[in-house]
Amino acid sequence: MLYILDSANVEEIRRCMEYFPIDGVTTNPTIISREKRNFLDLIKELRETIGPERMLHIQATAYTAEGMVEEALRLKEIVGGEFYIKIPVSDEGIKATMMLKKLDVKVTETAIFTQPQALLAAKAGADFVAPYVNRLDNIVSDGVSVVSDIVSMFSTHNIESKVLAASFKNVEQVHSVILKGGHAVTITPELCERMLYHPLTVSAISDFDQDWRKVYGDKRILDLI
Ligand code: E4P
Repeated sequence: MLYILDSANVEEIRRCMEYFPIDGVTTNPTIISREKRNFLDLIKELRETIGPERMLHIQATAYTAEGMVEEALRLKEIVGGEFYIKIPVSDEGIKATMMLKKLDVKVTETAIFTQPQALLAAKAGADFVAPYVNRLDNIVSDGVSVVSDIVSMFSTHNIESKVLAASFKNVEQVHSVILKGGHAVTITPELCERMLYHPLTVSAISDFDQDWRKVYGDKRILDLI
């Protein structure tokens, strides 16, 4: 199971990497645009920040399959390491995915909202398919159940593609997707912090500290042994 950060903010990514077991970073044009930075500098800094072993997913912006392939090859050359080109699922996107597989470029097929889209993307060779959980929930659909169907469809038919569930707004959605066998989740840094938080944990830690202080004051274990 992989935890991926859905962010292009270098400071946020640095903090999360220091405190959480993060396997990579996903971006999309919206996330990149939010940073209002020079694109080339930003993607290089993202790679420097996460190192070569963590996954870096950058989305293509071209409209044609050929254009997407060119962007993918260039991006792969620039950022290197564990690079995935994100391709939105469409006819041009599926065509690009088939072309990229022959060129040995890893693909995450994104903006997936249905099970048939996921299957087409997987058959075309996508390494990951990214269904959008919260955006489905927003239209009175059921994002978790779509993810669950995709996971079992891949398992039934021995399909190697993995499910990288995306678009989360709360911890419950993330937890449910993981229970259903989602292989990876991409979450915002804010949601990452929220997954750790529980008021009873905060209060338990505070109680331990107060009880200790009653006997040992400011001294910590290393002051006593
Ligand atoms: C990541 O790959 C997706 O682009 C992202 O999770 C979408 O999230 P949103 O629905 O919050 O924009």
